[in-house]
Amino acid sequence: MTAARRLVEEGARRLEAAGVASPEYDARELLAHVLGTTRAGLALVDEVSEQDAAVFEKLLVRREAREPLQHLTGTAAFRYVDLAVGPGVFVPRPETEMLAGWGVDRTREVIASGRTPLVVDLCTGSGAMALSLATEVPEAEVHAVELDESAHAWAARNLEGSGVDLRQGDMAEAFHDLDGTVDVIVCNPPYIPLEAYESVAAEARDHDPSLALWSGQDGLDAIRVLERVAARLLRHGGVVGAEHAEVQAESAPAVFAAAGRWSDVRDNPDLAGRPRFVTARLAR
Ligand SMILES: C[S@@+](CC[C@H](N)C(=O)[O-])C[C@H]1O[C@@H](n2cnc3c(N)ncnc32)[C@H](O)[C@@H]1O
Repeated sequence: MTAARRLVEEGARRLEAAGVASPEYDARELLAHVLGTTRAGLALVDEVSEQDAAVFEKLLVRREAREPLQHLTGTAAFRYVDLAVGPGVFVPRPETEMLAGWGVDRTREVIASGRTPLVVDLCTGSGAMALSLATEVPEAEVHAVELDESAHAWAARNLEGSGVDLRQGDMAEAFHDLDGTVDVIVCNPPYIPLEAYESVAAEARDHDPSLALWSGQDGLDAIRVLERVAARLLRHGGVVGAEHAEVQAESAPAVFAAAGRWSDVRDNPDLAGRPRFVTARLAR
């Protein structure tokens, strides 16, 4: 038997040396995962069997090599839901939770006005925002689209039984059957500028699918497409929210402002207070 506390402390030290951003958190999560408990439950564990310690060691080695924590545990928490994730799908991030919350609030406003809200999640990845919307606003009719075959398969797994209409395809040509009728669109598109390659964390660069990350030299190619798709899908007065990189705090809203068909174009911060998503209302 090995002391649980010693395993966590040594694990955290090794992860820190490997450049992992949250070493103690990750060491605890991994050991809790191996023992089939939670982080809180781990506090009640004194000793770990040699067999479990060996499994923990294997996961630790993979985390030291900067495999994402969520690939090792197989799940990612997002707002009130847990998503199954692994190779082939983008791991949903906490910085997207505020955008999903914005979508939830706007969707509830539609209900308050007496209509059934029609909501679309473009570039759904694991289905994180679509599942949050369907779970938090069960009255809404939620649609989602994902281009990549592998990511679409993960979304299908996560959205099973949720009532979300999930389709596979390019957002540029998605949902022509909904043209002019949608109330709320949320989208976390690929947006990292190619020139930022070196500054991207190894977990994302080496393990998130490249289709989920890069979007042209300035990172705004997908947002330009999104602006056109949103104008096609939304009813007059409908709203769109789209995530962007910190450096795009002015250039992402400018894509909407320049189109001349949006009102209330503004930028919004994430949980950490960083500029993170642009919102706009279709004016005409
Ligand atoms: C940054 S990830 C976001 C995934 C998810 N919305 C989230 O927040 O976790 C972007 C996703 O958009 C998908 N994607 C990229 N281009 C697309 C397109 N033209 N149409 C539909 N999906 C696209 C990628 O495959 C990837 O799953």
